[in-house]
Formats: sequence, C-alpha cells, structure tokens
Amino acid sequence: MPELVPVLTEKEIQKTVESLSRKISNDYKGKSLVLIGVLKGVLFFLADLARKLSVPVEIDFVWASSYETGDTSCGDVSLSCDIKTDIRGKHVLLVEDILDTGKTITSILPAIEKLGPASIKVCAFIDKTERREHECPTDYIGHSIKSGFLVGFGLDYSGKYRNLPAIYELKF
Ligand code: IMP
Ligand code: MG
Repeated sequence: MPELVPVLTEKEIQKTVESLSRKISNDYKGKSLVLIGVLKGVLFFLADLARKLSVPVEIDFVWASSYETGDTSCGDVSLSCDIKTDIRGKHVLLVEDILDTGKTITSILPAIEKLGPASIKVCAFIDKTERREHECPTDYIGHSIKSGFLVGFGLDYSGKYRNLPAIYELKF
C-alpha cells in the first residue's frame, strides 16, 4: 500500500482558495468571467473558487486525461473541448488542478483561443515545476512544488483518493 504523506490541510487549502479568489475578483472588477474547468481533477477547486468570487461568472468544462492508469504522464492528452458556453468577446479563466509537464494546458489553449474570447488566463491550484516541458501561462497559482505525486482535493491516482479533503503526497 502506498503511504499518504500530508502536504496541505483542508484549512490551508481554503486559505489559498480565498487568497486566489480575492486576487481574481480584484483583477476582474467591473467585468464578468467565464471559468472553464479541466475535468475531472478540478471539480472541488473550481466549486470552491467559484463560490468565493465576487464577479459574475459562467462555468463550463473541458475534459482532459493524460494519466490514464498511473502516476506518470504518457504524454498523450485525450481532450474534449466541446464547451457549450458562447465565450466570444468574454474573459476566460482556464482552471486546472495541477500543472505538470504543461502538455494539458498547452493542448487546450488553442482550442479555446479559436472561440474568440476577449482574454484567456490560467489558474492552477498547484504548479509542479520540475517536469515542465511545455511553457504555459501561470497567471494565478495556489502553491508551487518541485516534484512529487499528489492526491486529494480532486487529484487522483488511478481514479482514487479524489475525495480526500486534504492534499497528500503518495509515496510508493
Ligand atoms: P500535464 O499535462 O503534464 O501538465 O499534467 C496535468 C494533468 O496531469 C493534471 O490535470 C492532472 O490531472 C494530472 N497530474 C499531474 N500531476 C499530478 C499529480 O501529482 N497528482 C494527480 N494528478 C496529476
Ligand atoms: Mg487535471
């Protein structure tokens, strides 16, 4: 059985979400925002963040999966960017659970750009920097870590541990 080493408590997570939401609300004051979440990992982060924003928001989702069964990205991202919201001329914030190689975000961005938004920024709860291969925007970051495989608060290992309210490093 892999060991779960605590990284962020529920309280620390909520403090970070609050600070991100304050920054974002301030930057988009007087505007409205379309949050586009990358499923499935983003589900709790997006739900918590959206409820703390003080600007009007619309919410939509794209699907992406790169870790089909384990803890190393196979490099091929399977994507579904079929969003239903009309984002033409609107400000978009792409919301991710964690940035790793950068492949997922850099694969999604062109598909969103094609839909003609007024602007696109990226918000990720965790920026995992060591394995970055594709330069990607990091406009709003909750926490930066160098390496390690994290689970909880939406992050999974083979579909498990997503529902843990805190974040842990999985030690194999
Ligand atoms: P990237 O495409 O390599 O940047 O990987 C990003 C995606 O891989 C994220 O959206 C996560 O779903 C997944 N991922 C990357 N690192 C972790 C991790 O430490 N735990 C769980 N999922 C991860
Ligand atoms: Mg993800």
